[in-house]
Amino acid sequence: MDFNILDKIVQETLGAMEKAKEQIFSIAEDARSECARVKEELQEIRDKTYHVIEMVDEFYSRERKARVRLMEVSRGLERYTEDDIRKAYEEAQEIQVKLAVLKEREQQLRTKRDDLERRLRHLQAMVERAEQLMSQMGLILNFIGGNLKEITGKLEEAQLRQEIALRVIMAQEEERRRVAREIHDGPAQVMSSIVLQSELCERLMDIAPERVREELQELKNLVKGNLIEVRKIIYDLRPMALEEVGLYGAIEKYLDDFAEKHNVIVEHRFLGKEKRLSTLYEVAVFRMTQEALSNVAKHARAKTVKVQVEMAEAAMTTLIRDDGVGFDVQNAEQDEHFGLLGMRERAALLGGSVEIRSNLGQGTTVMIRIPLKERKDDGEQNGKDSNLASR
Ligand SMILES: Nc1ncnc2c1ncn2[C@@H]1O[C@H](COP(=O)(O)OP(=O)(O)O)[C@@H](O)[C@H]1O
Ligand SMILES: [Mg+2]
Repeated sequence: MDFNILDKIVQETLGAMEKAKEQIFSIAEDARSECARVKEELQEIRDKTYHVIEMVDEFYSRERKARVRLMEVSRGLERYTEDDIRKAYEEAQEIQVKLAVLKEREQQLRTKRDDLERRLRHLQAMVERAEQLMSQMGLILNFIGGNLKEITGKLEEAQLRQEIALRVIMAQEEERRRVAREIHDGPAQVMSSIVLQSELCERLMDIAPERVREELQELKNLVKGNLIEVRKIIYDLRPMALEEVGLYGAIEKYLDDFAEKHNVIVEHRFLGKEKRLSTLYEVAVFRMTQEALSNVAKHARAKTVKVQVEMAEAAMTTLIRDDGVGFDVQNAEQDEHFGLLGMRERAALLGGSVEIRSNLGQGTTVMIRIPLKERKDDGEQNGKDSNLASR
């Protein structure tokens, strides 16, 4: 499964939702400022309406007074001049016209005010809805974003585990092939020689019994040699010494054999007081050291190898330094070479790491670091991992 594609889809979906949220936000912003504007206008209209209503009231009373005056003037004709009557009449008419204008204005203002109030209610509802929508989208975004990240994380982890398991299986297969080859080339071949040799003895028994002793001697040497070979294979399969003599002892013994077999000077230093670790850890460190040394034998053409193991409170470090031909670390760990990869994986399973420094012609240093602190007597964890790491 390609996580990049999944990740892209998720990112695009989240991006689109984020954009939608921004748009809603800007709509809400617009509505809010429109709201403020309408409120201001409404206030103005209200003030104006109030003012006009006051004026209308005033003109009503003025109109009433004018009418009274007009009645008075028209009744007491003998007391008022024609001019007085005309004036009163004109005044009453003027007031009536003004009042009509004012009433019309009041009506307009009221209508406008009602419109604005409706508009304001509508805008306020819109702002509220947009805010609700935004907070809901925020929730959804967080939910989806968080959850999907977690899911892809989990899937990736599962895939990584699967890959590690596959590589471990491949390495296991490779090791079985190696052991089969070793038995085939060594003990199996020697045993067929033993069969031939015994047949020879059988025949010699009749024709030259004096030579049988000689041949038997040779046969015995063959069997002895073979026994050593078989023991070595068994030892390589499982460093039994580990349980009896501990990690330092087992490494020391391995180094002695190594120096003799490959004709290299091996210097070793064990720092810190050795403490016994669970088999899982001891086997893992032993195997990694073994792999690093077998690389020295196979590839380095070194004169000297220095091995240093240190047990500290928090971690144990193993250094394997050779003075051989060195190599290009970047390009070495590829395809069919599982040695270094296997080391890294073993270390990773125990929460540790492997660092390799090498330059052409300048030797190689392998540094294995395994943390000890929290795992020291963590029996359950050890049991869980033991299938992978204690092979
Ligand atoms: N100590 C070393 N000195 C020189 N070259 C090395 C050393 N260790 C590893 N290499 C190089 O790194 C490569 C990868 O090593 P490894 O993964 O153990 O695979 P393999 O040993 O099966 O070839 C080797 O093929 C070799 O070229
Ligand atoms: Mg190797």
